[in-house]
Amino acid sequence: MRDGRPGDWNDADEGAQAGEVGGVGRVQRQALGDRSGRDHQVDGPAPGLTARSDDCRRHAAEDTGRLGVERHWVELVLGPLQDLQPPGSLGMLVVGVLLVIAADFVRACGQFRQGNSADRHLIGQLGRVDPFPQDQDAGVEHALPGLLIAHMRCQRFAKLRSMKAAVHTRYGPPEVVLISEVEKPTPRYGEVLVKVHATTVNRTDCACRAARPFFMRLFTGLIRPRATVLGNEFAGVVEAVGSGVTSFEAGDKVFGYNEGPFGAHAEYMSIPADGSLATMPANVTFQQAAASTEGSHYALSHIRAAKIRSGQDVLVYGATGAIGSAAVQLLKSLGATVTAVCDTGHLELVRGLGADRVIDYTAGDFTREEQKYDAVLDSVGKSSFSQCKRLLKPHGIYISSELGPLAQNPFLALIAPLHGGKKVLFPIPEHDQVMVRYVRELLESGQFKPVIDRTYPLDQIVEAYRYVETGQKTGNVVISLEGSH
Ligand SMILES: NC(=O)c1ccc[n+]([C@@H]2O[C@H](COP(=O)([O-])OP(=O)(O)OC[C@H]3O[C@@H](n4cnc5c(N)ncnc54)[C@H](OP(=O)(O)O)[C@@H]3O)[C@@H](O)[C@H]2O)c1
Repeated sequence: MRDGRPGDWNDADEGAQAGEVGGVGRVQRQALGDRSGRDHQVDGPAPGLTARSDDCRRHAAEDTGRLGVERHWVELVLGPLQDLQPPGSLGMLVVGVLLVIAADFVRACGQFRQGNSADRHLIGQLGRVDPFPQDQDAGVEHALPGLLIAHMRCQRFAKLRSMKAAVHTRYGPPEVVLISEVEKPTPRYGEVLVKVHATTVNRTDCACRAARPFFMRLFTGLIRPRATVLGNEFAGVVEAVGSGVTSFEAGDKVFGYNEGPFGAHAEYMSIPADGSLATMPANVTFQQAAASTEGSHYALSHIRAAKIRSGQDVLVYGATGAIGSAAVQLLKSLGATVTAVCDTGHLELVRGLGADRVIDYTAGDFTREEQKYDAVLDSVGKSSFSQCKRLLKPHGIYISSELGPLAQNPFLALIAPLHGGKKVLFPIPEHDQVMVRYVRELLESGQFKPVIDRTYPLDQIVEAYRYVETGQKTGNVVISLEGSH
């Protein structure tokens, strides 16, 4: 077909019969005239075919629906190949760009199928790029500027539809987490899309990433992690809402907790509008809001299980962790009298959280204290019921954030109803919007201020994991995404 023979109508006929896509370039060449400079007259089957092909091009370019757009892209990418001159070096470059566009095309189609109407419109716009104008009768290198524009638009689209995220596809040490480009979520019915400004790496993320203890796999995926992007705490700005959402709107500053689905270690995440999120109070930063929910969620679960009331005496062991530092403040907001246990270097910090009395665990064994408590909350999971029993009042309650040295705490909690005295509770923590709104009130009133130890950019999340796993963080470790979008 590149022989320059005039009036090669059979080619066109065959091409058209072989299918619209393959026929397009040939029919287009008929419409343009061949290299002899003679215009082909539209007799025989050609006029209909040309008209049909032109219609096809026009419809495809105008149609923002799936089939129209995909057909146009096929035409755009493959059609011109029918007209290739023997390639010079510039021609080879054009072919290279064509191949890149073909790859973009495949990706765009994949994204298109999952995209919302706004995305479809955007792809429809991209589909209107035509690097092969109808009056082009020269070599393919003349198409280069148009191809480059098409390519740049594909790239722009791909960027709009992708985001940076910390991804892990297998369980293991911090190094299994990689920063990758993944598809940006689209808010479905009842969902909110949040542009994440800050998140945290906490012990929950570490446990889910490493699948430790092993039984966690029952919830996170037996062989491989189901949630490949972790991150449960977040603060950011609502980017878009799905249909049916009336409680939030684009531009709202929100924060919350998304344990289970996770997804906050990314530039964007979607979450049900009736999930654990609330608008941010004006007096906190994104970083503070992001660090407000995991520790307080567990602390609150313990406090509520123990039914702690104003005036009760509570001991918090591990008062410098995310859970412990939240527990001290939440207990004070309820009017409890709090004794906090930490090491020498954190005595002032813990006093600043409002603790009535602070014990340095490096100075002696706190379990030998004479003072008795209504509840002992081991927020760092380093003690046992048998060690702490003597600290409890007759009906005192012991709660630990860990299973216990022999994983005995759940069992001791099961048999707790059998004896009326001192007992162990092992509450299953639950989170909802009410919980986040409660935290919001405490933040707003200044009764709770999360302790922030370090802040890392998303790119250094592996470092953040390593640090959190030392078990020596003070409060929370924040991941900042500001400037990342
Ligand atoms: N049940 C769950 O689903 C769940 C979820 C999240 C976390 N957790 C568990 O809860 C615990 C607390 O987690 P977290 O994130 O709040 O804090 P964390 O990172 O485990 O705690 C760090 C703090 O604990 C203190 N600490 C370390 N060793 C200690 C010891 N022997 N005695 C007293 N304090 C000690 C350190 O302060 P000092 O310098 O003062 O020692 C440090 O500031 C962890 O064991 C974690 O695995 C359980």
